[in-house]
Amino acid sequence: MLQKIFNKIDCEQGLNKEDLVTLLKLENQEDLDVLFSKADKIRQKYVGDEVHLRGLIEFSNYCRKNCYYCGIRRGNKKLKRYRMSIEEIVDCAVQAERLGYRTVVLQSGEDMYYTADKLIDLIRRIKERCDVAITLSIGERPREEYERLYEAGADRFLIRFETSNPELYRKLHPDSDYYERMRILSWLREIGYQVGSGIMIGLPGQTVEDLADDILKFEELELDMVGVGPYICHDGTPLAGNPNGTVEMTFKVIALTRIVTRYANIPATTALATLRQEDGREKALQLGANVVMPNVTPVKYRAMYELYPAKVCIGEGAEQCRECIYGRIFSIGRPISKGYGHSFYPTKKVCS
Ligand code: 5AD
Ligand code: SF4
Ligand code: FES
Repeated sequence: MLQKIFNKIDCEQGLNKEDLVTLLKLENQEDLDVLFSKADKIRQKYVGDEVHLRGLIEFSNYCRKNCYYCGIRRGNKKLKRYRMSIEEIVDCAVQAERLGYRTVVLQSGEDMYYTADKLIDLIRRIKERCDVAITLSIGERPREEYERLYEAGADRFLIRFETSNPELYRKLHPDSDYYERMRILSWLREIGYQVGSGIMIGLPGQTVEDLADDILKFEELELDMVGVGPYICHDGTPLAGNPNGTVEMTFKVIALTRIVTRYANIPATTALATLRQEDGREKALQLGANVVMPNVTPVKYRAMYELYPAKVCIGEGAEQCRECIYGRIFSIGRPISKGYGHSFYPTKKVCS
């Protein structure tokens, strides 16, 4: 049974839900090592050895939404809130470029203080001063705003669907709709963005069947980027007391995401690094991932961007994170890309 599935992977035949469930249930370390090494080979064949770095700027922790798992949900009254000024964000992007990053990721809660006009000004100013690709990770907006931000120069957009089980999605998101999220993903593709999405592993109530569906959804959406990280329980949320997702399951999902999507840019996520500080990112890079997103947010704000507790790097500055990441990537013998790290997909399907 397992051998048959491994053969399918070797012949690049495509895996069905049943295959994925079988693989997600693997526990035996020898079998897992075989799976991980197949994922690593596919990573090398389709996206090469280079690791792409993205400088992450967490520019505001205000959020209008109340997702049950998230530490910066609007209902968390204990959290001190901050917003960076446009000047501060531009300075941060300049610093990211100086550190050698060729992409900046502008991430925030859903904060409507930053109107489309303000964001357009921000994008233009960054593009004038820096030779970087811009990724937005700012949540849900009207379609027309996504269009204007793209025209202003944003290259990529990240918005996770979190789970492909609409019922589970509904239980975790009091003020978002699964089908709306899917609609947004198709808009972003139509507009021309490189599109990223992703999920959390170990959400309360999530099954391995759900994870298999998530992986098939990544394939169906032909995502340019797929972020997969463990759920980490935050005490200041309605889900307090739930267990965290596991590093082991996260590794399996990353490996299978690589095997199934082949071309996607897959980060070794900060949430994974948080649960496995010693070598979580290195391992992820050796079983399918090819991207790391070092934090460049000014240190004074870092602790406040608390999606989950004990997040790594809250005391380190941008230079320290750069040194740390370079050391980790060199320790596993992988080169660091000097390019933008655009999507590897050979053709883009744009629906008309
Ligand atoms: N644990 C792990 N990841 C989380 N995110 C939000 N809250 C948590 C948490 N408690 C992730 C979500 C969101 C991204 C910005 O951070 O997947 O899309
Ligand atoms: Fe806001 Fe995103 Fe957190 Fe939901 S997950 S509360 S939208 S920052
Ligand atoms: Fe920030 Fe390691 S990446 S300290």
